[in-house]
Amino acid sequence: MSYVITIDGPAGAGKSTAAKEVARRLGISYLDTGAIYRAVALILYESEVPAVDGYIMREALSKIRIELRNKSVFVNGFDVTGEIRTPMVDELASMYSAIPSVRKALLSLQKDQEKHGSFVAEGRDVGSVVFPDAEAKFFLTASPEARAKRRYSERVSKGKPADYDEILRAIIDRDKNDSTREVAPLTVPKNAVYVDTSDMTEEQAVQFILDKVKEVIPNEAK
Ligand code: DC
Repeated sequence: MSYVITIDGPAGAGKSTAAKEVARRLGISYLDTGAIYRAVALILYESEVPAVDGYIMREALSKIRIELRNKSVFVNGFDVTGEIRTPMVDELASMYSAIPSVRKALLSLQKDQEKHGSFVAEGRDVGSVVFPDAEAKFFLTASPEARAKRRYSERVSKGKPADYDEILRAIIDRDKNDSTREVAPLTVPKNAVYVDTSDMTEEQAVQFILDKVKEVIPNEAK
């Protein structure tokens, strides 16, 4: 039997690291829904499509083809995996993902994943909207300061420019955007396990999730 695990939560709560590692240890796939939103936001912006819902937006969306191949994201055949991880795309994705027709267009692409066996999906509404019947759901969060500290260290370790105050401000802004939008706002999904990772190491968060998964899906998650 295949099963779905969802991990939702705000930026920097440790979702990606936890979701990837949980998927790896269970030997199942990983679905990064944020990467899909990022890729679409980037192409809409580059095509000069304003972040406004309506006919122009729907037309533009109908011409975009997103593919997930292994760990890469392709837009209309071009690999954008590297380009979508910039502070500019952080903001673009937050802006475009608030538009109802953008969310609608990306829903079936995400749901399609269910045809390919078990996986861990990571995002903002995967447990509430995309996979509401998932076998195990988690909501990972942490204080804005803890999240900003992590993002800061991550950027420094990659040799990228980093300013803690700016990162903290951006996190607070994005939280507000993501949780106040009208369509699929960031919320704790029904039946999700709430995990505050502020004082947890990455390994503790992974272990916590795996232990819970084993309780609800005992035969699958060994
Ligand atoms: O997780 P991330 O930082 O890569 O997500 C980028 C943006 O996409 C974020 O601002 C919220 C949005 N997003 C969303 O609205 N729904 C999802 N399921 C995943 C991401």
